[in-house]
This record gives sequence, structure tokens and C-alpha cells, in this order.
Amino acid sequence: MNAGNSELKVKRVSSRKRSRDSLKTHLTPTRKRGGGPCLQQCPTDWRLSSIMADEQAVEFCSDSEDLFGDYDSILEDSSLLAKLDEVEQIERQLDVQPPAHTEAADQPDFTSLRPSKDVQKPSCEDILTDSILDGLGDEPFEDLPASLLQFQEQVNESVKRSRLQDGDKTSTPSRTSDRNMEDKSKRKARRSVADQLKRTMLGNATAPSNVSRTAVLKEAVVSEEISVAMQAMETVSAETTDLGPFFGLPTKVKDLMYKLRGIKTLYDWQETCLNLDCVQQRKNLIYSLPTSGGKTLVAEILILRELLCRKKDCLFILPYISLVQEKVRGLASFGLELDFMVEEYAGSKGKFPPVKRRNKTSLYIATIEKAHSLVNSLIESSRMENLGLVVVDELHMLGDGSRGAIIEMTLAKVLYMSKSTQIIGMSATLGNIKDLQTFLRAENYTNDFRPVQLKEYVKLKDTIYEVDPKEDECFRFSRALNFKYSSGMQKMDPDHIIALVTEVIPAHSCLVFCPTKKNCENVAGMICKYLKEDFLQLRQEEKSVLLRELRESGNGSLCPVLRRTVPYGLAYHHSGLTSEERKLVEEAYSNGVLCLLTCTSTLAAGINLPARRVILRSPYLATDFLKRSQYKQMVGRAGRAGIDSVGESILILQDKERNMAQHLVCAPMEKCFSNLKHDEGKGLLSLILSLVGLNVRDFLCGTLLYVQQEQLCVERSLWEEVQQCVELLKEKNLITVAADGQTLQVTKLGKATYKGSVDLAHSDVLYKDLSKGLEGLLLNSYLHLVYLVTPYDMISQCKPDWMTYFRQFTLLSASEQKMSAAVGVPESFVARKAAGQSVKKSVNMEVVSRMYLALVLFSLLKETNLWSVADRFQLSRGFIQTLLSSSSAFCSCVLHFTEELEEFWPFRALLSELTRRLSYCVRAELIPLMEVAGVMELRAKQLYNAGYKTLTHLANADPAVLSRTIENMFNKQANQIVASAKMLLSEKAAALQEEVDELLTLPSDLPQASNTEQV
Ligand SMILES: Nc1ncnc2c1ncn2[C@@H]1O[C@H](COP(=O)(O)OP(=O)(O)OP(=O)(O)O)[C@@H](O)[C@H]1O
Ligand SMILES: [Mg+2]
Repeated sequence: MNAGNSELKVKRVSSRKRSRDSLKTHLTPTRKRGGGPCLQQCPTDWRLSSIMADEQAVEFCSDSEDLFGDYDSILEDSSLLAKLDEVEQIERQLDVQPPAHTEAADQPDFTSLRPSKDVQKPSCEDILTDSILDGLGDEPFEDLPASLLQFQEQVNESVKRSRLQDGDKTSTPSRTSDRNMEDKSKRKARRSVADQLKRTMLGNATAPSNVSRTAVLKEAVVSEEISVAMQAMETVSAETTDLGPFFGLPTKVKDLMYKLRGIKTLYDWQETCLNLDCVQQRKNLIYSLPTSGGKTLVAEILILRELLCRKKDCLFILPYISLVQEKVRGLASFGLELDFMVEEYAGSKGKFPPVKRRNKTSLYIATIEKAHSLVNSLIESSRMENLGLVVVDELHMLGDGSRGAIIEMTLAKVLYMSKSTQIIGMSATLGNIKDLQTFLRAENYTNDFRPVQLKEYVKLKDTIYEVDPKEDECFRFSRALNFKYSSGMQKMDPDHIIALVTEVIPAHSCLVFCPTKKNCENVAGMICKYLKEDFLQLRQEEKSVLLRELRESGNGSLCPVLRRTVPYGLAYHHSGLTSEERKLVEEAYSNGVLCLLTCTSTLAAGINLPARRVILRSPYLATDFLKRSQYKQMVGRAGRAGIDSVGESILILQDKERNMAQHLVCAPMEKCFSNLKHDEGKGLLSLILSLVGLNVRDFLCGTLLYVQQEQLCVERSLWEEVQQCVELLKEKNLITVAADGQTLQVTKLGKATYKGSVDLAHSDVLYKDLSKGLEGLLLNSYLHLVYLVTPYDMISQCKPDWMTYFRQFTLLSASEQKMSAAVGVPESFVARKAAGQSVKKSVNMEVVSRMYLALVLFSLLKETNLWSVADRFQLSRGFIQTLLSSSSAFCSCVLHFTEELEEFWPFRALLSELTRRLSYCVRAELIPLMEVAGVMELRAKQLYNAGYKTLTHLANADPAVLSRTIENMFNKQANQIVASAKMLLSEKAAALQEEVDELLTLPSDLPQASNTEQV
């Protein structure tokens, strides 16, 4: 037994060693040949050795300016490529002969694994040598499940072999004693299943379908470059400005930036910023530049440095799910090329705590809410030291209500719990950056660079004025308008929007920001009415493809406004559209098929869609006057880098708005204040709850609220505020005082609340609802479960239509109606309401409205057609989609909540399946494709119909073939989809591998057998 255990342990070491060695391969650098200790496994040892013993390393890292010396151009060195090819040839020849049992034979071949008749090719001695894999050629991709077939065949093979080996031990390579050989063959028979499982999965996951040995070797070159960069990071003094060929990163990163982004050189400010002393020393940093200044690239370079050179995980926080998905897609290719994981934490996606990766670092790309849960889970599992860097985009969102409070909590916890985690914040210019610097103990870099000049104008009556803060009234006369409008047209368009847009379209692009959703649709319709027929002739074919796709995305239904406007090259864009429609519209606008979008402010902060001219239809958002930051975001969309030489914005004003508008366009930037006290101090409450839960003390002085307490804690001191919160949490039974009478401790309910990120206002209701649910859980339909995960905060956003309610109620089965009555919505009540009668009996209207929303979700789950459900309930399809996505997110919150409370055990399995159902409310066969970031239903259907039926199909697809065969899929999209699929597949495979490793690891605290037993 004991021996068995130690064998397993030996196996683990050897298998890991192999994968590390595979990265090194046979490549040139002498340092490796010197047999120095392994880089990735023990960086400390390596650092020592590099200083003390290894001459070659000293040579690389001398104080020469370019630390890579000649070494940085390895990839361009044809002689080296020739050498690689030569090595490949030799390898092939070796493969033909029975392999001697050497280190080389132990190296995994990342050649793609597919079902093959050659699998049976006998390999006389070692069932696990990679010669088995070498036998697999690059046959065309056959129908799947390949990995399963492969696995099956290998298992059979291994069984045969182990029998063989038992009978004929001499066939094993003999480098060690017979005794050892015997042990070894047993060991191999035992380890075979796990190893083959791992290898099959990893081979499939990591290798693209046509990866040659040369490609693998090139990968190794990159890994060597990274090790040199790591070495550089460790050894150069702080004064050195340039750590390597590309800001401390391998040349390959520079090449990838060009290949994948089209970015050849960095802007001057980007270079300056990356070379700042504080950046080199990994101090916290806030940098602020105007919109479109190129802030993201700097953050990405720092992330790559952390991932590749310091081998630490990174967290990138973005404000919206769509932005997270876009980033995941954009960075997946970098992950594949540079060998790190890109993990999506948005909506219902993301594991807590994240899967531990032994050999790879991870980049978590997360929404604000998910980032908070992620940090909580890392603290709880004592893994904060693995988090090297946290990047927050749009840092000014700290001042944005409850989401701001969540960012503040997250950052404060990171600051407190891990001194070695660097924090980088990006933002447009802020009025009180000093406060944020104090909070984050950060340096600041500010620059007003903008790649394309932005000219701001306002329109008052028939005159255009340029915004100029130096002028007394902020406005300087620019030009008089002389549009020839008929009286009818003047009536329709008193603000001359049509004239203003036709100055730029169709040759250039234009965005028109409108105060309401309805207004967007009306303005788009109005402009079309007066456009010339010429507009219809442009890019006709692409427009009809767009219309067709819009129709397909609506399962045959097409928005009548879009049907009218798209042929003219116009569309509207707001949250009433489905995310699929929005994406189609965005893509068509980016590609120039559409030249004008009318939109709400959501577009300003969302996807990067610049325009030559931006028009603000009015200085209002619904009924609120614009804030300066909102105005700046919107006008900041003007000017496309690399396309336009100038961008311009025009704010349309009425006379009475003149004074307020002066303030809007010329005032200093707004200040950003802590939001922990927002919404009756919800943020502070949940912060204190999680601090007690995580056992963190003396913490609050690390918050922005502490920094700003003089302004924000006027009525009560921060200390009094905290006292009050503690009392409230006690009242709510979320925390208690421990037996010692002093220490606070979190209750089970409290723990479930912060672990599930459940709003404190709802946690007790949720507990009661779930408990009541257990008494008579209806399981022959989804309705009851769906009701339990219908988010409480959506209730106020929808008023039931009683006739619809009643009609839907009558369609329920008897047991469903009974369940509805049990939660507090009896049929009689709905019937009376529908008949317009008054109801005396008191009912909880929140429950009634929640059940109405549950009915919407229930219909959606049943028929998966957003449009018909929207029609039936007379709600906008955008609202229904928001309801669906927040329900799936809430469902995963409830799942985490129930995981902490033993009494709710039956919910766990049920809710994990329901989360999946709600996340992908589509035909089941499309789900695996839709797990890939950014693949929506329509795209999934197209892919499915074209034969790409599983994630593995997609991961192995040739992007060129995809873009040829799938309608309206451009090369870039095809590349990104395939890269994301590969990343996801390798993530899944690696997670399984970790599980296998975990199972096979010898526990360190295993009771030791006594000596006599061993004998
Ligand atoms: N060095 C560069 N050369 C060319 N293009 C660049 C460079 N750096 C960034 N860009 C491009 O500029 C555009 C805007 O960059 P980015 O999105 O980072 O701006 P931003 O500063 O974050 O603006 P916002 O505040 O609007 O989010 C992107 O399309 C990006 O690819
Ligand atoms: Mg940005």
C-alpha cells in the first residue's frame, strides 16, 4: 500500500518534469544545456543559480542595453529555423526506431490526437512513451468524439501492453536494475489511465489541428525568450528602463501586437508610461488620458509581463459583460500563443475559487461583481499571493453608485490582503485624483494625448459655436447654418439633424446620441424619410445580408424600424434590442455597411465604436441633465484613430439650456466620491459583513470612504457609521458576538450571503423563500425553481398586465397553479384583477409581480423564442433578455448561497443545471458552441448547420475555412472564435487534469506506517 503511494508520487514528478522539458526542447541556449535547475518549478533556486554559477546567464543579463542581445531575433533567424527543421527531421527518424528510454522520449508530443488506425502500431517497451502519439499523423479531422475514441483505444492498448509486460519483462528498456524495471512496469500500468487521459486531453486542447513539430519547437523558443525576460526582471536594477526587446517581453509579443491588433509602434506617452520608474518597480499606478488615448494597450503589456515574466495571475476588471466577452475574445489568441489561460468571469460564468493551474498562469477577465467574488474566494482559500496584478478599467466608476461601492471593496481588500499585488487603474481625467491616489497608495500619470484631434461644438438656433473655455461664455462663433428646409421639414426636424448628418454621411460615419430609446427609433426613421435614393444603392448586398441575419436572429421576426432604416445605411442601438441584434448592428457599423447609428448613452461606455461626427440630440438623459463625465464619454467617440484626421462633436441646445450647457462643456472634471454609503450604506454593510466573514480586522482605514470621511461623514463619524452597521448586521442575524463576548463572527446565513453576493436587503427573504420551497418543491416543471431565482431587484421594473397574467395562468397545469397559490398568488386573485374587480384579500404585490416575471422566464425556457414571448407579454425583447441574463446570474448566486447552508442541499444539483439552462436559453445542442465567448444563438446555429457541432469541432476548425463557409463572418472574427474555442477547450482539459492530479497526489499528512509494517 505504502509502496503504491510512493509510486504515484514518483509518477507525478516525472510527468510534470516531462511537460516542463517539452517547453525547453533541444534549443540552443547553453544555459539550459548546463543542466541548471528547472525555471518554472523553482524560480528561487534558479535565481540563485543564475547569479552564482551560470556563465551564459550572466552574459545574457549583463548591463547591455538590449538584454536579449542577438537572442531576441530568434524567430526571424532563418538559420535557426533551419536548425529547428533539422531537429524535427532527426526527431522523425528517431521515431521510426524503437525509442531508447531517454528524457527526449519522455517529452510529450503536442501533435493533435485523432482517431487513427495507426494507433495500434506496436511500441515494444513503454506503453506511455510518446511514440504512440508520434504514430498519429495529420489526418484530416474526422467526426468526433475523437478524444473519446483515442482514449478508448489507448486504454485497450495499455491493458494489452501491461499484460505483455507482465509476461516479458526483458522487453523494457534496461537502464536500471531488474527490480526497478519491475516496479516501473507496474507503475506504468497503474499510471496509464490517468496519464493517457491527461495526454489525450492536453494534446487535443493545446494543439491546433495542423501543428507541426517545428511549430512546437518555435513555441519553445518563445518560452526561452520568456525565461530570459524573467531573468531580466529579476536581475536588472531598478534604474534600467528597458528590460527586453519589447518592454521586458519577448519579440513575439510585439509581433502578435502587429498581427492581431495592427499596432506597430507605441504612442510616445505609452512608451513613457511603461518606462516610468514606478512602473518598473511595480508600484500602484493610476493613469488618466482622454477617451481613445490608447490606455488599454499599456495595461495589457503590464498584464503580459506579470503573466509571463513573474508567473503570477492577473485580474482585469471591466464594467460590462459585453466588454468582458470582447476582451476574452481579443486576448484568447495571446493566451494560446504565449501559453497562459484566459478565463471569463461574467454573468453566470466563472469558478470560485478559480481552478488552480500548476503549470500555467491565468488572466481572469471579470465584471465588477464577479471580480469582487473572485477576490473574496482567493482570500478565503489563502491564494492572494498568486494574484500579481489587478487592472481596473474606467476607475472613475468608483463614484458610480452600488457598482462603485463594489469596486472600492474589491480594491480595499486586495490592498489589505496582499502587499505584493500591484493595482493599476485607468480613467478619463478626474477632478480629485489625489484622493484616489491616497486610497490606492498609487502614483499618477496624466497626459492629454489624443491620436485624433477632437473639436467640440454646440448648436444654438442657426449658429454653430466652437467650445473654447478661454472665451467668456465658453462659446466662440464658428459658422452660420443656412439649410434650405421646406416648412414641412422644418416642422419635422426643427433642430436640423438631417442637415447636420448629411454633411458627413455616407462618406463618413456619424453617431447621434438621443435622450430616450423611443427617440432613437424616431430620429432614425425621420432621417431616412428625407435621405436621397442614392443612399439605397450603397453596399446593397451587405445590407441585405444584415437584414437577413437580423431576421434570422429573431427566428423570422424583424424589427420594422430596422427594416426601414437599414437599406439607407442607418440603424438605432439601445437596450431594447436583443444583444444579438446589437452585435449585428455594431459589426455592420464598424465595417462601414451602416454609416449612422442613433443611440442612447449605453453606446458611449460600451464597445469602442468611434465616428467622424458625434451629435448630441439634447443635453438630457431621459429627464436628467447630462453630467460632465457622461458628456465627455459621448463626445469622446468622435474621431477614428488611423482613419479620420479630426473628430467633431455637436451638442444641440435650446436657448434656455445655454447657461447650464456652458457649465457642462467647460467645467473642471467631476470629482469621484466613495459610494460605500450609497443606498443607505448598503456597501458599507456588506463590506463589514464580508470582513467579519473573512476574518479581516483594522481594515476600514484602507478605504476611499476613510480618505474622504471629512466630506462624506458629516452627520456621523465613520466610526459611528460602522457601529451602526454592526448593530444592523446583528439584528439581521448575519453576524453575532462570539462566546468571548468581544469578537464578532459571521453566522451561517451571513456567510452564505456574502459568498453568494446576495444583496443584504434580500438575504432573509431569500432564506425564507428557499425554506418554504423545500416544503413542497414542485419538480415536474421548471416553474417553481424559476420563481425562486427570479431576481428581486427586477420586480420593480415591470408592472403585470392582468389580462396577460390571467391568460398565462390558465395555461398552467393544476400542480403549477397549486404551487403558485402556495407562494401567495392564487388564481382567484389574478382572475379578479383581470376582470377589473377590487380585491379585498391582502396579497403581497412583490410576490405577485415576481411570479409574473417567473412566468415570462418560464415561457422563454419552454419555447426559447424571445420575440414571441416579448409579444405575448408586451415587453421589449431587450428587457426580456436582461431579465434572462440577470436571472441566470442570480441563479448562480443562489447556488453559492445554498452551498453554504446544509439544509438547502437538494437545491445544489437542481440550481447548477438551471443556471446552465438560463444562461443559454436555446436548443440544447447549441449550448456547447455558445459557451465560447461572444458566440450567440444565430452564430451558433450557423456553425452547427455547417457541421461544427461541438466545442472540439470549433477549436479544431480552420479559421480561413470558417470565414469562407459561414455567411458574414470576417477573418478576424473567425480567428477570434477559433482562438476562444481553443482556449476554452484547453481550460476545460486542464481543469480535468488538475482533478486527476489532485486525486493522485500523495497526501502530505498521510499517517506513516511503522518500521515493522514496512518490513
Ligand atoms: N500605439 C497604438 N497605435 C495604433 N493604435 C493604437 C495604439 N494604441 C492603441 N491604439 C488603438 O486606439 C484605439 C483606442 O484605444 P483604447 O480603447 O485603449 O482607448 P482608451 O484610452 O481606453 O479610450 P476610452 O477611454 O474611450 O476607453 C483602439 O482601437 C486601439 O487599438
Ligand atoms: Mg478604454
